[in-house]
Amino acid sequence: MTQRTISIESPYFLRVETLEGGLDLPAVFGNNNPLALEIGCGTGHFILERATQQPETNFLAIDIYNKGCWKTCKKLDAKPLSNVRVMRIEARYLLSEGLAPDMLAAIYINCPDPWPKKRHRQRRLVNRSFLQTLWHYLQPDGDFYFSTDFYDYAVEVAEIMARLSGYKNQLANTFAHELPGYPLSKYMQRFQQIGKPLYFIHQRRDPELPRRTLPFPKFQRGFRVRWPKSEHG
Ligand SMILES: C[S@@+](CC[C@H](N)C(=O)[O-])C[C@H]1O[C@@H](n2cnc3c(N)ncnc32)[C@H](O)[C@@H]1O
Repeated sequence: MTQRTISIESPYFLRVETLEGGLDLPAVFGNNNPLALEIGCGTGHFILERATQQPETNFLAIDIYNKGCWKTCKKLDAKPLSNVRVMRIEARYLLSEGLAPDMLAAIYINCPDPWPKKRHRQRRLVNRSFLQTLWHYLQPDGDFYFSTDFYDYAVEVAEIMARLSGYKNQLANTFAHELPGYPLSKYMQRFQQIGKPLYFIHQRRDPELPRRTLPFPKFQRGFRVRWPKSEHG
């Protein structure tokens, strides 16, 4: 059964066409403030709080889930925040088509789909190639935040980041179970309620590492690059 695509009519919603020729940030936000990206914003709990905490940063919240984008926009319609925009788009497609290297002050990935079965692990979004790609899109001292309730996903991400050597851990240990002031997403709240520990990673792009040391990886194939026009709503 296919789900009905909800048409999103909100001033906070950016259509994919906005990317043609690259994302024009001053045109979108009306200023030149730094840009942060949330990948997989779900229903928007995190981004609304983070953007309220940081009014001098622009936030782009993306998800491939139409209903999640719609719910995030609904929240923004009710509580206007001029520094947030929402896009229904696949993360790698956005990076390759809409953003430029060194562009992001921060990247947030909260509770990405964990693909817990061993045979499905290769479907995880956050892998070596993706982390290497993100390194290029971060500003030289840009922040990377990752959270999960899956211990082995946290270990995998932390180990890859240590091996890439292009990131600097910002925590006293490999993970933290909480980050002071860090808003809780809907999934985090759920996991907390049932007593599941959360694992947070906070790393920063090492500004000293020359670009040639960490080559730009090829974008992985297999993700859906563009929605049919009828699904853009
Ligand atoms: C488990 S949910 C977590 C949602 C939210 N971050 C939270 O913590 O409540 C993961 C979200 O990531 C989105 N997602 C998965 N792969 C994605 C991709 N490649 N690009 C953009 N969004 C993606 C899913 O549609 C889903 O809404």
